[in-house]
Amino acid sequence: MSVHSEIKRVTTESFRKMKFDNEKITMLTAYDFSIAKMVDAGGVDAVLVGDSASNVMAGHETTLPITLDQMIYHAQSVVRGVSRALVIVDLPFGTYQSDPQKALDSAVRIMKESGAHAIKLEGGAEVAESIKRIVNAGIPVIGHLGLTPQSIYQFGTYKVRAKEEAEAQKLISDAKLLEELGCFSVVLEKIPASLAKQVTESISIPTIGIGAGPDCDGQVLVFHDMVGMNKGFSPKFLRRYLDLFDEVAGAVGQYVKDVKSQDFPNQQESY
Ligand code: KIV
Repeated sequence: MSVHSEIKRVTTESFRKMKFDNEKITMLTAYDFSIAKMVDAGGVDAVLVGDSASNVMAGHETTLPITLDQMIYHAQSVVRGVSRALVIVDLPFGTYQSDPQKALDSAVRIMKESGAHAIKLEGGAEVAESIKRIVNAGIPVIGHLGLTPQSIYQFGTYKVRAKEEAEAQKLISDAKLLEELGCFSVVLEKIPASLAKQVTESISIPTIGIGAGPDCDGQVLVFHDMVGMNKGFSPKFLRRYLDLFDEVAGAVGQYVKDVKSQDFPNQQESY
């Protein structure tokens, strides 16, 4: 029996232990009760209520429009569906960058109103005071460096980040700072695998990669992408485990055909 299956409820302490034991950490997104239940049943260690809900659930082009109230609604639904995994919720754009007290208030709302276990926010030194305030209040924080989608208009593109030396050095020092500030883990998004390896080896908190190569302490993917619900999104780092868009559209097509041809409902399906 693996250490993993003996853990009843995954905690931030389990994250530390998994890094120490060289056991890879698994994380997927979920934004609603039903998918959270499936993802938890599949045995992931953490469920991320990502602000990618803005794209995936609401159809926005970026993560910027989603509000704190909307994130709390998604988080409440996910928490009701999860019995084992650690539930982490993104602080949405505009709820933590301006001042540390606002950041703490936003994090407290998520924890109190959703029952989630931790929050995630994007950035390094720029948001250090906010992280400090939230951690000091006893709220577990996971950082997010590299391609941070809330800064997309500053980046101008979703291309790989930190290929240049200066940005890579800043990312390494930000990762060390996040550890010093008390973050329990850090997401590394779309950076060179060699840089992710260097960061992973230079900090004692676990790194969770997305498009950051195999040497991170764990991996995260957006659920809707890995089950093929989003046909238009196929970056190199994404492995698709299902082709749900075609499967579901096919099933819907069959249902339409059956109703139109008066095959459904039949005698056995009627009272
Ligand atoms: O919002 C999200 O889904 C994320 C992951 C891509 C890490 O932040």
